[in-house]
Amino acid sequence: MTFDFDGGVAVVTGAAAGIGRAVARRLGRAGARVVGVDLNEPRDLGDEDAGIRWQRLDLRDGVAVEAFVDGLVATEGRIDFLVNNAGITRDHALWKMEDGDWDAVLDVNLSGAFRMLRAVARPMRAAGNGSIVQIASINGLRGKFGQANYSASKAGVIALTRTAARELGPRGIRVNAVAPGMIETAMTKELPAAIRQRAIDETCLGRLAEPDVIADAVLFLLSAAARHITGTVLPVDGGQLV
Ligand code: NAI
Repeated sequence: MTFDFDGGVAVVTGAAAGIGRAVARRLGRAGARVVGVDLNEPRDLGDEDAGIRWQRLDLRDGVAVEAFVDGLVATEGRIDFLVNNAGITRDHALWKMEDGDWDAVLDVNLSGAFRMLRAVARPMRAAGNGSIVQIASINGLRGKFGQANYSASKAGVIALTRTAARELGPRGIRVNAVAPGMIETAMTKELPAAIRQRAIDETCLGRLAEPDVIADAVLFLLSAAARHITGTVLPVDGGQLV
């Protein structure tokens, strides 16, 4: 399936690595004017990153998020697409989890997504157009040992997605979520082999996927092919949840 986002202005958060990087590249290849924002600088930039503009942004800083969106609207005139992707983990069993672990994960994964969604909703409402995809997780749809903070944050992202779909739908703005299973990125590379193997065993397909697999699903939901789809949560997990 090929997509045409010709000239559309797209913001991707957490775009320096992993899934966000793959999404930014795919959007760029499909003709979008992509702005990738991240706490960190992207490394190993190649030809595929040529069309992407990078900006450092900390989603924990609401004032900076508002200023970024205002600045982008001032220069580009509009924002057509948002992929709320940035996320972190601080895994511990519930009884060992400290307040700082809880707060850090909720602040980036849920509050960070909210801050960007709220800021982008304003120009999208004014334009009467927009498509947003938020990256949740299958662990926001089920419980996961060691991830009370992360699972709660992703369940929150799903609730935020559904509420935003209701609030923004009347202005022609669609809001969906993708819930990845375990994907080969920096976030999962460091996991113990036994945990990775358990995830593989959970899948129907017997494998973990690369970030491109999530990018494909994101582009579909952003695109006109999904023009009557909003408020949905699409698991992309090789069948881990089945
Ligand atoms: P990653 O760790 O490779 O990349 C995440 C990016 O977010 C990094 O570049 C990081 O610098 C950025 N980031 C972190 N805090 C930030 C902040 N405060 N402001 C701006 N940027 C910030 O992670 P990965 O694996 O690519 O994950 C992307 C999304 O997919 C996350 O929301 C994650 O929870 C979700 N996900 C990942 C899965 C996986 O197996 N890798 C499974 C399910 C969901």
